[in-house]
Amino acid sequence: MKDKLARNISIYRKERGLTQEELAQHLGISFQAISKWENSQSMPDITLLPALSKILEVSVDKLLGYVVQDKKITIYEDEYQTEEYYWGTEPNRACYQVLQLMPPTKPLKLLDVGCGEGKDAVFFARNGYEVSAFDVTDAGIEKTRRLADRIGVHLNVFKADLLEYRLDTHYDIIFSSGDLHYIKPEYRTEIFANYKRFTNENGMHVFTVFVNKPFIAPPPEKETNAYAWHSGELLAHYHDWLIRDSAEIVFDCNSSGIPHQHAMTNMAAQKVPSVLRP
Ligand SMILES: C[S@@+](CC[C@H](N)C(=O)[O-])C[C@H]1O[C@@H](n2cnc3c(N)ncnc32)[C@H](O)[C@@H]1O
Repeated sequence: MKDKLARNISIYRKERGLTQEELAQHLGISFQAISKWENSQSMPDITLLPALSKILEVSVDKLLGYVVQDKKITIYEDEYQTEEYYWGTEPNRACYQVLQLMPPTKPLKLLDVGCGEGKDAVFFARNGYEVSAFDVTDAGIEKTRRLADRIGVHLNVFKADLLEYRLDTHYDIIFSSGDLHYIKPEYRTEIFANYKRFTNENGMHVFTVFVNKPFIAPPPEKETNAYAWHSGELLAHYHDWLIRDSAEIVFDCNSSGIPHQHAMTNMAAQKVPSVLRP
């Protein structure tokens, strides 16, 4: 709970546009106290919670991380209810890039962020990677497990919300295809810092993100919690890593039965060993 509370204070403070000093002033305490709360070094006194909840305009329950889901996080909980695989069972082309750039010639731990129904996670496991994968949908997790059983591979699949989940164990490869637009722009730096920190030296991030392009119409799926990236934005998070590959592509899509197009940035970035850094 301590970590969730720490994260929530930081997230809601930033959402309200308050600095640590301003929040501290409202509460009549020092800004160092706020900094300690947000770093999980201490927790607010229980008597401060009502005031904190009022200033941050969020219920105490939500602040403490006890969230009763009042609306669906994603449309895909419904879309994945059918027997068929909404995204098919063939791997995304970025999976082959991982094979090419970091073949599993030794044990490599890979995390698939937003694994959907598991086509990519299963592909990686089949090719010899030690795969963990998560998605926020129960239906997606269930279908990922079923696909892994059908193919006869082992996966560590779990349900998690990428907005809340933070890594506490290291991976060699972090992979995500078409999921990172669920992160609001203001939280991207924090989440990416966590992913970068928990990546082994020489490890890689292989991501594809939807990007806004003025000449591509918005997708037919109405997702209120999606925030497409800007061209070049993803690369900016990796100025201190080696960019092994990057491209912006436009492709046709028929999800939801309506032909449309997407623009995506694909990037493979490698963490340079600390001995090589100045
Ligand atoms: C466009 S699909 C891509 C799925 C998969 N990466 C693939 O390529 O088949 C987006 C996925 O993000 C998942 N998603 C949406 N919001 C999420 C969240 N907050 N945390 C984790 N996964 C989320 C959805 O459930 C869905 O499976």
